[in-house]
Amino acid sequence: MTDEYIRLDHISKSFGQTQVLKDLDAVLHRGEILGFLGPSGAGKTTTIRILTGQLKATSGDAYVLGIHVKNIDETIYEQIGIVTDQSGVYERLSVWDNLKYFAQIHGVSAGRTEEILKRVGLWEHRKKPAGKLSKGQAQRLVLSRAVLHRPKVLFLDEPTSGLDPSTALDIHSLLLEMKEAGMAIFLTTHNMEEATKLCDHVALLNDGKIVEYGTPEELCQRYNREKRYRIRLSDGTKRILGQTQEDITTLADALGRDAVLSLHSCEPTLESVFLTVTGRALT
Ligand SMILES: Nc1ncnc2c1ncn2[C@@H]1O[C@H](COP(=O)(O)OP(=O)(O)OP(=O)(O)O)[C@@H](O)[C@H]1O
Ligand SMILES: [Mg+2]
Repeated sequence: MTDEYIRLDHISKSFGQTQVLKDLDAVLHRGEILGFLGPSGAGKTTTIRILTGQLKATSGDAYVLGIHVKNIDETIYEQIGIVTDQSGVYERLSVWDNLKYFAQIHGVSAGRTEEILKRVGLWEHRKKPAGKLSKGQAQRLVLSRAVLHRPKVLFLDEPTSGLDPSTALDIHSLLLEMKEAGMAIFLTTHNMEEATKLCDHVALLNDGKIVEYGTPEELCQRYNREKRYRIRLSDGTKRILGQTQEDITTLADALGRDAVLSLHSCEPTLESVFLTVTGRALT
């Protein structure tokens, strides 16, 4: 078995006359996080549904753990975890019983269930009916269930959307921990900061097409065409300098007078890269 856990090879998908995925290629290896980023309707969830065998591609090939998606059956669920929305949780069952049910299906010990509930901060809520959890708690329950059986591949469809920053940070640290342990994570998000922090590679998806692919740093550098510097001088002035002769002279002069209090380069963010590439904001 290679460490290539997911491969998309010229995947296209049409619903009727409308093509929603156009010739997607991507690879995800063991211990990596791949971010699929794009605005609403770009095709992120459709891609996950194809990779998890819930939807058939119109053309192209996709593989999960070396298995062609057309041959995927239930046995794959022993090796993958999926977080989409909160459906699939039994609202009237307690947190513990929700996990117990899945633990039994997958042959997971009660000790592991306890460990994961403690890790996500739901241990003290284990007796609560799942339907009474807050949004952040419910999302942590869904995530716990998806990783209970230590899957090799985890699909996360906007796992932190609508969560408070501290719950989102908790989820980020858990994801990084699992990645370190070798899990491959396929993540969709609108959140560029999240992608920059977590992803080894990102694919920018727009209208069903991958319009850019690379590490977050590579993409930001690729679009860092006009280098800019933010400086603050000892007389209190703040300026953004570019690379015109005048700006270079200003900077050299200020440096020569030892009048520079701070000097920072302004690299583009993934957000501004997306805007440049697609001409549209990512909301
Ligand atoms: N079953 C379906 N039948 C027809 N069209 C569909 C179907 N599922 C998705 N689509 C269309 O495919 C496109 C991509 O949808 P998808 O749900 O993959 O987008 P997304 O990137 O996940 O968006 P969001 O960020 O809003 O979740 C949309 O235009 C959507 O309307
Ligand atoms: Mg979606």
